[in-house]
Amino acid sequence: MSIISKDIAKAIALLKADKIVAIPTETVYGLAGNIFSEKAIKSIFETKKRPFFNPLIVHIPSADALENIVSHVPEKARLLAKAFWPGSMTLVLKKQATIPDLITAGKDTVAVRVPNHPLTLELLEQLPFPLAAPSANPFSSISPTKPEHVENYFKNDIDMVLDGGACTNGIESTIIGFENDEPIIYRLGALALEDIEAVVGQITIKNKKEQSPDAPGMLDKHYAPLTQTYLTSNVSEEVKNHAGKRIGLLVFKDDLNDNAITTQIILSPKGDMAEAASKLYDAMHDLDHQNLDVIIAERFPDFGLGKSINDRLQRAAFNS
Ligand code: TXA
Ligand code: MG
Repeated sequence: MSIISKDIAKAIALLKADKIVAIPTETVYGLAGNIFSEKAIKSIFETKKRPFFNPLIVHIPSADALENIVSHVPEKARLLAKAFWPGSMTLVLKKQATIPDLITAGKDTVAVRVPNHPLTLELLEQLPFPLAAPSANPFSSISPTKPEHVENYFKNDIDMVLDGGACTNGIESTIIGFENDEPIIYRLGALALEDIEAVVGQITIKNKKEQSPDAPGMLDKHYAPLTQTYLTSNVSEEVKNHAGKRIGLLVFKDDLNDNAITTQIILSPKGDMAEAASKLYDAMHDLDHQNLDVIIAERFPDFGLGKSINDRLQRAAFNS
């Protein structure tokens, strides 16, 4: 029997009983549990096979709930919350003493967001506690953007996927931390950098080498298909490097007419980066299940959501 269900009362009952439930958000599906239940939080880490040093995002029903979670809100954090919540932005702020160490991996900061999905907002409003939710995928694999993706990963491990349909944004939230009250991007994501800068001015992106202490989840290889993946600006050249293999192509807007290719997915024929982002992970799941030898992904223009998409493709293609 399928574990996918729209029964919100059942989700509430499970969560109140220290169980974990996969929940829809506008970015990706999350694997959710009561932030105050040690049992639920441990089972999130175990189910995902996620190392305990990688902290979780706390999901709250509205910005009003922020003061229960964090101890200090810089002015620019306030502006960002007003501009983008509910939405695809996570803020990393100094935590309240009541937030368990298991959630924050022992750090004195906590990641928080108000997701923008009607079902999950209703769930959060009805529950007496916030929900910790990492993306609902095994550690380092492709994030789920449809209930079926979660079911494929975890049908033997969890009781329920709350069915909220396909995620409209399709890549994870943009994570913003603060140093001396100034915002810094820890993870590029579903909000375009330019939109954030329109609210708080120019903003630094923490580079990979410096990232580890503040953004411990930002491993190089992540969001990765099992099929060997290559990222390129010149698709037809890269195809020649894999002659004789079963090749799956993942392109932005233009198809490639080449018999050497087994299959290809065009993310947005009309060239819309938001549409491409929303379909990216579903396309990666799809190609990964086609028994291909290689996936060749086309690099996106390096602005707007293209920057975030390139970040994910880079990690999918990372070799080590
Ligand atoms: O869109 C999203 O953000 C989704 C949905 C479900 O909300 N969640 C998500 O969670 O992507 P996850 O756990 O896959 O990624 C959260 C990232 C991790 O890389 C983690 O290291 C970082 O947030 N993070 C969490 N708490 C942090 C903290 N206190 N300081 C720095 N980074 C933190
Ligand atoms: Mg994740």
